Order: sequence, then structure tokens, then C-alpha cells
Amino acid sequence: MSPQAFQRAVLDWFEIHGRKHLPWQQAPTAYRVWVSEIMLQQTQVATVIPYFSRFMQRFPDLPTLAAAELDQVLSYWAGLGYYSRARNLHCAAREVVERHAGRLPERLEALAALPGIGRSTAGAILSLGHGLPAAILDGNVKRVLSRHAGLAGWPGETRVLRELWELSERYTPTSRTAEYNQAMMDLGATVCTRTRPRCDACPLSGDCEAHRSGQTASIPAPRPNRSMPVRRCLLAVLNNRNGEFWLQRRPPIGIWGGLLSLPEFDSLDTIHEWCIQRGLEVGELECLPERRHTFSHFHLDYRPVIGVAKARYNAAEPGHGAWFAPHPDLALPAPVRRLLEECAAGASQSSTHKA
Ligand code: ADE
Repeated sequence: MSPQAFQRAVLDWFEIHGRKHLPWQQAPTAYRVWVSEIMLQQTQVATVIPYFSRFMQRFPDLPTLAAAELDQVLSYWAGLGYYSRARNLHCAAREVVERHAGRLPERLEALAALPGIGRSTAGAILSLGHGLPAAILDGNVKRVLSRHAGLAGWPGETRVLRELWELSERYTPTSRTAEYNQAMMDLGATVCTRTRPRCDACPLSGDCEAHRSGQTASIPAPRPNRSMPVRRCLLAVLNNRNGEFWLQRRPPIGIWGGLLSLPEFDSLDTIHEWCIQRGLEVGELECLPERRHTFSHFHLDYRPVIGVAKARYNAAEPGHGAWFAPHPDLALPAPVRRLLEECAAGASQSSTHKA
């Protein structure tokens, strides 16, 4: 199929079936496209929409984002996961203010040099945000192109990835690039789905190698199996009599980097020791059943341990921890937020019960 025929089929399909009402498609700017693309990197459209709207209300333009404190940005990201995305976004915004007078660059290399912006995100910002011709290759586009070309292999493999970029560059038109790129993402998300693709609704099925040879189930090949390591810890949920919880700031790098979280321990003894060192009388500790939170590269099996502080321990530890009243604006990882909500609800129930 010639690139022109391919583009025509995709664009004609887009006119009728493409998504045109997503929030970041309204009054698109490079900044809005950038934020949406970063949010959409590991998160479904339906989840992103409310986060995107709240984020845009608070940080309507790039200079506002750059001027904000990281903690504020993280609190608007809390619950979306993969927090390095928010840290990179904030860091990149400051770099754009310093080096590019607050405007996202219009050159691929300059965009891709910013933290958190890879080649595909740079292509999306150029095409969808600046209206320039540039190819993209996100997960959806990889699937459409792999199947169309009958390209076996896992797209994470360098050789396969290189071929996919060549295909994407070959088919991407130099005009109507924004519509074409959006169409390819929509086609992958709604028709050429990972399982049970709707080939009968696909504008490319007549020329699709995977469809012709009955290989849509095996192309693209999945990531080679690797079993994920498991990390275990106890999460101490210590609350005082004012309904506050002891929270501490996590180091900037690593899981939940920069967020507030509960202190982690490897045994009940170390929790007791920690409390004794601070003159914190907690009495009996209650262990809840173990729970699992899965990150991209390991499982965290954590056991919540609840303690109620008898004497009020006042000393905040600068940069480390303090008592916090639960509040929606706190930058907390989603599982920690849920746990605190449960504990706060449990505490109020048991006090109502006792009363
Ligand atoms: N996923 C990544 N970018 C997207 C976009 N612009 N629209 C819908 N889904 C996407």
C-alpha cells in the first residue's frame, strides 16, 4: 500500500470515527498537549480526563507550572502513579522558562532533550500542539503498524523498534499530521485493540498482513516473561489523638519519590524502637493483613501496622516527618491515601461505637 493510500484510509476513517472531543483537543496548545501526553503515557484516557482538567485549572500555562513548588504539582498528580512523570514535567517547565523563554521548542531534538520527553512525545507535541509534521510511535501506533506489516517480535526490542519508526516515518503525512496521528492512536485504542481487534471495522484490514495470515493474536509479540521481584515491608500507620497521622517525605528518587508517605519498617521491633527513641508511647500495635501494590518492575507486599500514640509527640523532624491531618491536597501515593481513609473511618467508627 502506498503511503498516500494508507494516509487516505486512516484520515477518512478519522473523519467519521475519530475522537475529537477530548479535553486536550479543545483549544490545543503545545503546553496542553504536552501535559496530556505525559499523563497518558501510562494511564487510560478515562482516568486522565479529571486529572487533566484539575491540573489545567491550577497550572493553566507553562510559566505557572514552572513557578509552582514541586509539592503542589505532586499533589495534583497524587493517585495517577509513576510520579517521576510529574517531577520531570516540573523540571522541564523550569528548563523551558530558562532556556526557551517559556515556549516549548519547535524542534524535535530540543524537545526530546527535556526531561520526560522521548521521541514519540516530542512528535506528539510538534504535530498536535504546534501543527508541524512529525511522526509518533506510542503503544497504540506500534500495534497498528506491527500488525499491518506483519512484523513479529516484541516492540520493546531495539531491532523491532527501529523498523517501527521507519514505518511510522514512511506513512506519516506532511499535511494534516495532527489528524493523522490522532487517528492512528484512536485506531489502536478503539479498533486495533490488543485482544479481540475489530478487524471488520478497520480501514486497513484489506491490506493488513496480520489479518490476512490470521496472526492478530500473536502480533505484536508480548514482552518476554520476566518474573517480578517482591519487596516486603511494614507500613506504620501511627495516629495521635487529634486524628493526625505521622507522615514523612520520601526521597526524591525512587518509588513514590517526593511524595508524603507512611514510615516503612522491616519488623515490629524496629517500629517499637523507633517510637521509644521519640518518646512516643503507642501501646499495642495492630497488624492488618498483607496487601500488594504492583509497580512496573516489582511487587510491594506491605502490611499496615496501626498504632495510636498516647502521649502527644510534637517534634516534627525537619524534612522527614510530622503529624498531618488527612486532607485531599496532601501529595500521597494512592494506596497510602486509601489506607489513611480506611483508618480514619475505622477510628471514627470505633469512637462512635464506644460513645
Ligand atoms: N494516548 C496518548 N496520546 C493520546 C491522545 N492524544 N489521545 C488519546 N489517547 C492518547
